[in-house]
Amino acid sequence: MVSKKVFEELDKLRVALRKHNRLYHVLDDPEISDAEYDVLFAKLLEIERQYPELVTENSPSHRVGAERLDAFETVEHRSPMLSLDKCTSTSELIDWETRALKYLGQQQALVYTCEPKIDGVAVSLFYAKGELVSAATRGDGRAGEGILANVRTIAAIPLVLSGDNTPREIEIRGEIYMPIAGFNKFNSQAQSQGKKLLVNPRNGAAGSLRQLDSRITAARPLTMYCYSAGYYSADWQPKSHWDVLMQLKAWGLRVNQETQRVTGIDACTNYIDKILARRDALAYEIDGIVIKSDSLEIQQKLGVLTRSPRWAIAYKYPSQEATTELLSVDFQVGRTGAITPVARLEPVFVGGVTVSSASLHNIGEIRRLNLRLGDKVLLRRAGDVIPKIVKALGDNDSNVNIEGFEGSSAENMINLPDLCPSCGTSIVLAADEAIARCPAGLQCPDQRRESIRHFASRLAMDIDGMGDRIVELLIEQELVETFSDLYALEVSQVAQLERMGEKSAENLIQAIEASKSTTLARFIYALGIREVGEATAVNLAAYFGDISALKNADLEQLVRVEDVGEIVAANIMEYFSNQSAWLDIERLRQAGIYWPDIQAKTAHQPLQGQIWVLTGKLTEMPRAKAKAALQQLGAKVASAVSSQTDCLVAGEKAGSKLSKAQSLGIKIIDEAEMLNFLGRESARQA
Ligand code: IVH
Repeated sequence: MVSKKVFEELDKLRVALRKHNRLYHVLDDPEISDAEYDVLFAKLLEIERQYPELVTENSPSHRVGAERLDAFETVEHRSPMLSLDKCTSTSELIDWETRALKYLGQQQALVYTCEPKIDGVAVSLFYAKGELVSAATRGDGRAGEGILANVRTIAAIPLVLSGDNTPREIEIRGEIYMPIAGFNKFNSQAQSQGKKLLVNPRNGAAGSLRQLDSRITAARPLTMYCYSAGYYSADWQPKSHWDVLMQLKAWGLRVNQETQRVTGIDACTNYIDKILARRDALAYEIDGIVIKSDSLEIQQKLGVLTRSPRWAIAYKYPSQEATTELLSVDFQVGRTGAITPVARLEPVFVGGVTVSSASLHNIGEIRRLNLRLGDKVLLRRAGDVIPKIVKALGDNDSNVNIEGFEGSSAENMINLPDLCPSCGTSIVLAADEAIARCPAGLQCPDQRRESIRHFASRLAMDIDGMGDRIVELLIEQELVETFSDLYALEVSQVAQLERMGEKSAENLIQAIEASKSTTLARFIYALGIREVGEATAVNLAAYFGDISALKNADLEQLVRVEDVGEIVAANIMEYFSNQSAWLDIERLRQAGIYWPDIQAKTAHQPLQGQIWVLTGKLTEMPRAKAKAALQQLGAKVASAVSSQTDCLVAGEKAGSKLSKAQSLGIKIIDEAEMLNFLGRESARQA
């Protein structure tokens, strides 16, 4: 006999778990921590383990599917799942309204709801007595595939509706989709594991729902926005579409908060423009806006054409995908010698612009995509993202495009050239690497050009007016070969360049002169050492204080700098081991490039020569600020604790660095002590 207490406890747990599940997944507003949720969940599992007879289909424990299907059953929809009429311009939208008003014999503006048209998979959920009993895809509109086991794994979909006013039966419609962040994360994982990538979030959602093993679905980042009710029993009588949405929300379903109720078509076009402007910032992909007449009575009057209702229309945005043809592949040489294949495409309009080329990143990408010249390809340009070939269309599978592979024909194969397209040096492709490189460094004209462009760029030496074209001309005319050559240029030399007058030449020379006053961090960044970006350059400058110290640093010293791992350290050492690179740096110094001596900035430097490490969470002062303050006082701030460390500042939840410092007997202070010390020192300075 199961005691009443157990029943009550079980019920309480299920109610609580449903509530917290909804707060977290539907309302984005959790009230308890994940750990607290886990405790409740574990309690439920424990009771269900003890009393298996009390386990119900819709218990919160029953989400993660263990079911394996052989095929999807057919599920008939109680009311058909319609599709939408489409339009792509304001005038078409106005025509649609005009037709509707005429049909209604009415002149007065209509009330509409405007909703983003989510790019996912249309799904119908069937709830009986508030419990989810079936879920199906749209199929042919009359019947679809039963995907309940998979749908149950989606945390944002309630297994039981909340509230005591749920109708006896209801079909709830909406779109299951994969948020962009989840899609990107999935793909970057798949890429690093050499697995197949998802083409777009919509395919990601569709593929996830089509799994026969619902454990796979459970591991995919899926969620749902509900946008209408299909059939519902007569014990529910909503008056407007807006009421429907508000009620769905109250029952615990996710409803898009961008949805708006407006009056008149002008307000709709405003909405369309406003959402389009924010399209790239949304957390999900949309392909347009759905506009629906809000009153259910008017919907009823307007009725349905063959497949789509007269009371709704989809305004389509420009597509973010298009198919085009791969015409040729060029190989370009980047600043660091990386050989980048660039696809030349039959121009195509996608994501609001015309695209005629797309980077293929590296030869590995060509192999992954199994691309051949002349292929039809699927091009995607979502958000402000650069266009990307996501797929070769057609049957390339039996025709793998690697040299020597059976089935590949010589003419349409894309092969890495043997020689650098810029300087003719043999290209190097390490066996385990996807990136091929020209090893010629600054001897290679393209690398030279890109290096000098980088050197002069805004975040580096910031030479105003030194555009790409001018760099190209200076190199073509053999006026510049190395960085230091820039500082030897004369007005007369620059003035004779194409489209350069005396005046602009003077300006450029002045800008070159002005760039001499810089910072060590900018200078390090300008050198273009592989994988040394601005942030790393700042850390290196702060740590070493001058360029010779950086040049002479060994691996052990370099990896102590924040952000610097062994690969970056090796790149730095390789850079400075190059005689001519160092010679050019010396010439630059002689030409008058200077930066304020970081160490000399503050006269009073009580921490001169000391190495400090910050660890854990600082709550009072941002870490970057603390670091700068310590550096001001002469300290070097390192990222790892070693026997060289003088002091460790341990913030909240400090971990391994703290224990290491303890074991090495290094001085340890907390944030408050550090602040005290900094406060006293700044008082002294003042
Ligand atoms: S209303 C009669 N609202 O767009 C009403 N559809 O052809 C039919 N879709 O695949 C649907 N977001 O899944 C509606 N807010 C939204 C929508 C939406 C996306 C999809 C729907 C269907 C297609 C309509």
